[in-house]
Amino acid sequence: MALPNKPKGELKAVRDPEVEEREVDILIVGGGMAACGSAFEVKKWMSDDQSVLLVDKAAMERSGAVAQGLSAINTYIGDNSADDYVRMVRNDLMGIVREDLIFDLGCHVDDSVHLFEEWGLPVWKKTDDGKNLDGKKGQKQGTLKSGATPVRTGKWQIMINGESYKRIVAEAAKMALGEDNILERVFIVELLLDAKNENQIAGAIGFSVRENKVYIIKCKTMMVACGGAVNIYQPRSVGEGKGRAWYPVWNSGSTYTLCMKVGAELSMMENRFTPARFKDGYGPVGAWFLLFKAKALNGLGEAFAGSDAAKVELENYAPYGTAAITPTCLRNHLMLFEMKAGRGPIIMDTVTALAELGKTMDKKELKHLESEAWEDFLDMTCGQANLWCAQNCEPEKKNSEIMPTEPYLLGSHSGCCGLWCSGPDYDWVPDAYKWGHNGKVYNRMTTVAGLFTSGDGVGCSGHKFSSGSHAEGRMAAKAMVKFVRDNKDFTPTIAQSKEELVDMVYKPVRIFLDNHEYTTAIDINPNYLKPEGMMYRLMKATHEYGAGTATYYQTTSKNLEIVMDLLETMREDCEKLAAGDLHELMRAWEIYHRIWTVESHLRHIQFRKETRYPGFYYQSDYPKQDDANWFCFTNSKYDPKAKTWDTFKRDYVKIIPD
Ligand code: FAD
Ligand code: ADX
Repeated sequence: MALPNKPKGELKAVRDPEVEEREVDILIVGGGMAACGSAFEVKKWMSDDQSVLLVDKAAMERSGAVAQGLSAINTYIGDNSADDYVRMVRNDLMGIVREDLIFDLGCHVDDSVHLFEEWGLPVWKKTDDGKNLDGKKGQKQGTLKSGATPVRTGKWQIMINGESYKRIVAEAAKMALGEDNILERVFIVELLLDAKNENQIAGAIGFSVRENKVYIIKCKTMMVACGGAVNIYQPRSVGEGKGRAWYPVWNSGSTYTLCMKVGAELSMMENRFTPARFKDGYGPVGAWFLLFKAKALNGLGEAFAGSDAAKVELENYAPYGTAAITPTCLRNHLMLFEMKAGRGPIIMDTVTALAELGKTMDKKELKHLESEAWEDFLDMTCGQANLWCAQNCEPEKKNSEIMPTEPYLLGSHSGCCGLWCSGPDYDWVPDAYKWGHNGKVYNRMTTVAGLFTSGDGVGCSGHKFSSGSHAEGRMAAKAMVKFVRDNKDFTPTIAQSKEELVDMVYKPVRIFLDNHEYTTAIDINPNYLKPEGMMYRLMKATHEYGAGTATYYQTTSKNLEIVMDLLETMREDCEKLAAGDLHELMRAWEIYHRIWTVESHLRHIQFRKETRYPGFYYQSDYPKQDDANWFCFTNSKYDPKAKTWDTFKRDYVKIIPD
């Protein structure tokens, strides 16, 4: 259960926290869409003598990427086929994806959407005469499961009234799991390997951000679904705008760092998502492009995306560039192409789009259309609606600027970095794509026995979005229960003593307490550094050398060499991080997770000597795609014993024909 908010200020950290030890069969780390899926599903398969615990760093009702709500569910298969879903994802991610994982998800995702609707999420419906009904009117049309038609924005997306989406999903998860099996406001810091069995997971360690308490949790199996990584690059919003970002600021790469540090193999970490968004407010563009049919214009007022120059440019990236739907990265590439040629800024033509749609509408319908335009932001990114107010912008009268943002790392949206995971145990899945433990296959298990992931954690298979992440969490839960059942005799054993673990988690607190009286300014001290300073240091390095916005997302071999060197020093200096209160302790661990995550990202870019995702990033000394050498996955593995990295290729296997 969540502890109440603090009456005032942050709780000061003490030298010796209370320690609580737990032992469960199944541990779910995270409380977002994927973890809520696992929480909802897991007890259906568990036997009465099995135990489960979910740990979220925040409060599940509003944690993770769906915290503010959403205005669309971006993956609903409906009348489409799972084969076509694979083709769409493959095209958008420039050809290299794990088709087994995507097909498997495509077969299950709609069931999660049907559940959301059953739990009360309003889904917009289409009437027989082609009108859109939202809210209660939409609900009266019947459910999707009973055959009602959703309002499609694109082929895969459906519209919802989703301000309370996360609350609805979290409520179902909590009711299914039981409040006693949930710890909120507990940040997981490190995973623990088993002392007796090499490469097998045995537990995790974390701390409460509301009381001075460390948790040591032993488990037989675990799912880590802590979302993607945000604030690893200097965001475009600085100064008074600091804290605005597109993906949720509190997702700090824990999924990747926790798993890589115990030796789980990563895949496609070079992939990133650099979304095009309404400038400064980060408002989403999907509904504008797809539902309102708006066009992006360059600074000269030209619809550049359909121009002859754009076609010629896209031919350089065939077959993806010339596909019917231009991949997300190449849509960005075209924007950057205009901006670099001096034809910026890029403008979303909201005025013409709304005028066009309004032509066939009466006054009341037109008013409703305008409120839909606002609601798209109010349901999901309300800061953008605030910005429109602040700038006197009425979208039917004034156009808005759009802009590629800073980069994010994620595996569930339009990106595909993450963990290398086993696919399902079907005969059509290539042997290299399915594995497990003691001769059995476990879907969505990483390369560490007993360690699973889902949502942003599973690599090589983007475009799951909220619904797919939930469904994937459910799939992983089922496999985890099977793992526990098949490994009844396994007793997790932790090599480190209780004291060693507490020393590690509370090290920043002790450094602070030992040294803070040395100077008068609490943040400036020769014996320690604060997480905030480290954050700026990280952002400056990645921004300038690691293909951030400073260089139009370009980097070179030499720049990568420099940034890798800087990151190594940052990791060394993290030994001196200091935290005076519990919030700062969380910040210290977040920045540590961010550094490891972005290092793996840049390590992968360095390894893949081509530019696979133009528009997301460019290697100026390898500016083209090189299918002859790089039509493959690039994976990496950190060896926790030797403390060394290995980066290598894995074969791509095409399963679904064109
Ligand atoms: P999340 O849902 O982000 O959950 C991560 C969880 O991990 C959180 O509970 C967090 O508190 C917890 N956590 C993090 N670190 C730790 C730690 N160290 N210890 C313990 N817990 C931790 N999808 C759609 O379908 N339609 C849309 O319109 C849409 N729009 C979007 C708009 C925005 C602005 C964003 C950010 C995302 C959008 N998405 C949309 C995508 C969707 O939200 C994600 O795909 C989905 O939430 C990913 O699920 P997840 O469980 O992997 O991560
Ligand atoms: S959101 O998750 O923040 O809403 P976004 O607005 O980028 O994301 O996209 C929503 C959905 O629309 C995604 O499925 C995305 O792939 C799709 N999309 C966005 N813009 C376009 C476009 N111009 N053409 C085709 N699909 C698009």
